[in-house]
Amino acid sequence: MAGRGNRTNGAAARALGRIRGLSVFLLLISGVISLLALTGSFYMLQIYDRALVSGSIPTLAAISVLAIGLYVFQGLFDIIRAQLLVRIGARIDRRLAPIAHRVVVDMPRLGYSTSEALERGRDVDTIRGFFGSQGPVAIFDLPWMPLFLIFVYILHPTLGALTIGGAFFLAILAVLTELRTRRWSQATLAATVERNAIADSNARNAEVLKAMGFAGRAVARFAGANERHLELQTRTSDITGTYGAVSRVTRMLLQSAILGLAAYLTIRGELSAGAIIAASIASARAMAPIDLAIGNWKNIVAARGAWRRVRETVEVLENQPEPMRLPAPVASLKVEGVTVAAPATGRVILSDVSFEVRAGNAVGIIGPSGGGKSTLARALTGVWPVLRGAIRLDDADLSQWSDEDRGAHVGYLPQDVALLDATVEENIARLDPRPSPAAIVEAARAAAVHEMIVRLPEGYRTPLGPMGTAISGGQRQRLGLARALYGKPFLVVLDEPNANLDPEGEAALTAAIEGVKARGGIVIVIAHRPSALQACDLIGVIQRGRLTGFGPKEQILNPKAPAQPAPADAAAGAPAAPAAPEPVRARQARKLPAAASARPGRAAR
Ligand SMILES: Nc1ncnc2c1ncn2[C@@H]1O[C@H](COP(=O)(O)OP(=O)(O)OP(=O)(O)O)[C@@H](O)[C@H]1O
Ligand SMILES: [Mg+2]
Repeated sequence: MAGRGNRTNGAAARALGRIRGLSVFLLLISGVISLLALTGSFYMLQIYDRALVSGSIPTLAAISVLAIGLYVFQGLFDIIRAQLLVRIGARIDRRLAPIAHRVVVDMPRLGYSTSEALERGRDVDTIRGFFGSQGPVAIFDLPWMPLFLIFVYILHPTLGALTIGGAFFLAILAVLTELRTRRWSQATLAATVERNAIADSNARNAEVLKAMGFAGRAVARFAGANERHLELQTRTSDITGTYGAVSRVTRMLLQSAILGLAAYLTIRGELSAGAIIAASIASARAMAPIDLAIGNWKNIVAARGAWRRVRETVEVLENQPEPMRLPAPVASLKVEGVTVAAPATGRVILSDVSFEVRAGNAVGIIGPSGGGKSTLARALTGVWPVLRGAIRLDDADLSQWSDEDRGAHVGYLPQDVALLDATVEENIARLDPRPSPAAIVEAARAAAVHEMIVRLPEGYRTPLGPMGTAISGGQRQRLGLARALYGKPFLVVLDEPNANLDPEGEAALTAAIEGVKARGGIVIVIAHRPSALQACDLIGVIQRGRLTGFGPKEQILNPKAPAQPAPADAAAGAPAAPAAPEPVRARQARKLPAAASARPGRAAR
């Protein structure tokens, strides 16, 4: 649905904006709680300096009732604040989790490890968890510290000076904690990602580890990474633990010092007896937020990092304009001077590739391993962005389509077929919440997989298990083909679709390609085995990142044959057959009869 992305992102920004508003409210509530927290001190003062002096029971009772009332209020506000914080955490989670998950889904495609991607998803958990902890309480209480300092100062300036000195010392401890943990927290996060990446890759290679008996070594590798992670964790915890203990002891020491100083001042007649305890309580309360902040420093730092990353993500997603909805493409695929680099490394893999295909044609892409065929498939389907040049469907650049719109017009069978942990039906229908059973069966029939599916225990409703492992390699490839064909997309890109197919499967593949051509679609088939090229009209040769040949199949595969005029509706940009074909690499020649390539760059002109 066009515009959905924008709405989600706008909502996220609004959620963040609302949280800013709520922060002000929380700050005010914290102010009220702080003010009410002076109850104990006032009560002491009144007991000692009024009730005891006057010896009046009614006065004592009145003061006590008042104090109880204030305590109840303080408790109520505390409950409100705690519930509000938890709800803010939940609201942030609800709004940001889908956006963060989008990033999680996007990152592996761009070359990040799965564990690095999942860490982004965990950021939202970290933020939500933080709002449920004591961290925010410390942060919101901190600005109200002067309230208590002023109170103590009014009791006696010397007491005030001692409390302020203590607060200053504790603040320095907090800053030191921050400075000393900052470096480690970055390193700890990197170590977490590394450790999880190894765990993830070991789990995915379970079969290989078992068969060749190197699970033990894989575990040892994990243990090494875990050790580094633990070491960093220990170091960070040591720092926060030490500073936390120092701060706690300082606070206790300070409390006693205040008590002692107040007693001294009382003996000298400068202070009332009630003020001794009142000062002690108020100064303790003044220090509490700093102490709490130091104790929760690890959480605060983690939440701050997570918040920064999530905000960056939201801002990036928000700055992407949602393209206008375009009509379904019907006429052509144009690849114009396309250069593609690997997103993770920036290394150029494919350079200056140009060709054009009209509706109703199938193009076979051949070439040696590592030449860049799969990279072309990724560029054509928008999986990888292009560095230069343009890929156009009916003259509109791929970037002019929203992912969802473009996806509906594109079918893609990747080289390593992976299916979702969902049912057969959901996999073929691309998780469409309201799939058309007829369209699913049609796609399955086109991929010659319908009979196999209905023989499964629960037919189309059979769950495939994690990574779609509950079926064979060939079955997986056919299901992947059915998914690519679902909804009759205009452009169907198949990367080695016949790698695991039996002759029957290959015949079905040829029929499927013919079917797409007949309904006016375009098929791009990447293949090593010639059987998949049967239904192709055009052939492109990709070697070392360049399109070194492109033209009608007969000319490319059998260049000695006299050049035949290309079909009227075939590729407009197809060059004439190369005059003096160069021999292709041995590997390819073995697989393709009389394969040949044009001079580098020639086809691209
Ligand atoms: N994710 C990636 N990051 C960096 N480089 C990559 C990535 N994927 C592929 N490459 C590099 O790009 C080059 C072309 O890879 P590509 O997968 O396009 O080859 P191919 O022609 O499909 O080969 P094959 O026939 O073996 O499938 C290779 O040298 C490969 O090392
Ligand atoms: Mg490939």
